[in-house]
Amino acid sequence: MQTSRHINNTPGKFTLRYVRSEREPPSLAEDARTGLLTRPRSLPPKYFYDGFGSELFDRICATPEYYVTRTEDALLAARAEAIIGASQPDHILELGSGASRKTHHLLTACESRSMRCTYWPYDVCESILIQAGRRLMGAYRWLNVNALVGDYHAGLMHLPSPPGRRLFAFLGSTIGNFDRPQAIALLRELHAKMRPGDSFLLGADRVKEEFVLHAAYNDTAGLTAAFNLNLLRVINRELDADFDLQGFEHRALYNQDAQQVEMYLVANRPQAAHLRALNEMLSFEEGERILTEISRKFTRGGLRTLLRDAGFEVTAQYEPQNCYFSLVLARPI
Ligand code: SAH
Ligand code: TRP
Repeated sequence: MQTSRHINNTPGKFTLRYVRSEREPPSLAEDARTGLLTRPRSLPPKYFYDGFGSELFDRICATPEYYVTRTEDALLAARAEAIIGASQPDHILELGSGASRKTHHLLTACESRSMRCTYWPYDVCESILIQAGRRLMGAYRWLNVNALVGDYHAGLMHLPSPPGRRLFAFLGSTIGNFDRPQAIALLRELHAKMRPGDSFLLGADRVKEEFVLHAAYNDTAGLTAAFNLNLLRVINRELDADFDLQGFEHRALYNQDAQQVEMYLVANRPQAAHLRALNEMLSFEEGERILTEISRKFTRGGLRTLLRDAGFEVTAQYEPQNCYFSLVLARPI
């Protein structure tokens, strides 16, 4: 167990606030209308993460097949000192922070240098922010946690800009859940928030053997399947719909040409679903599918180019021997 140490005697505080949208993102009703009424059918992945979905995701991270979390965790554990040494942050702001488990390494590295940084986890799921905040406050008594609830598709302009050096983190290969234009757009917005002296830490999954990828998104315990199907539960609840969760199956496959894992919900029989809030009836043929998530896999060069095209210069790249994952430290140019 990590023993916490008071760097000075003031205990940290937890705050939570909502980030104002810079532009109104489409509502679930609008996204469902565009995504489900036109073919090929798709839904944006952010709706996975209601409280239940976030808990399922946290459990996916601990499955033996999902090497992503373990690999990134080990890399962070080994490199946190170097990352903190290079970035010297007064503030760590993390996009899509979820349970903030891996971030512990960065905070421990700050603690061991007696640096008292403030942590700003930013996520669309309020309940996971509260849980993560509680755990962090217990582990680091000195830490101020300012949780930010918001949708990063609504623009980053209204994120707080505290004075001092900032380390922005985007871990878990969530960047891979954006297509390239979306990823560039988000990274440019982040770039616009940054000042000279700030750093950006990006965690991204790498291209690798198909069987490893396939297993990672098809765990035998069925947690990924449950997570994917939870999207239909969210639609049922929020749009007064009647999707039968038994009528759909999880499918994840690696698209080698596009270098991405694609996650689908596939109808296992012909069926209809009524979306009462939209006053729409959807019909599905057997085998018809909804794309729920892409997870792009990167090469070392691809990551460098992506960052460069968004205005960043890579200052360090960390990867394990098997090159399964990259942590990239960058600065705005
Ligand atoms: N960083 C964590 C969690 C990754 S899962 C890890 O590496 O394990 C993706 C996280 O991003 C979830 O916590 C989810 O709630 C959050 N998220 C998804 N879409 C989002 C959006 N549009 N805006 C803000 N957060 C989002
Ligand atoms: N960012 C994670 C990834 O691309 C998200 C994720 C992992 C995910 N497993 C999933 C999304 C299963 C949907 C379904 O690896």
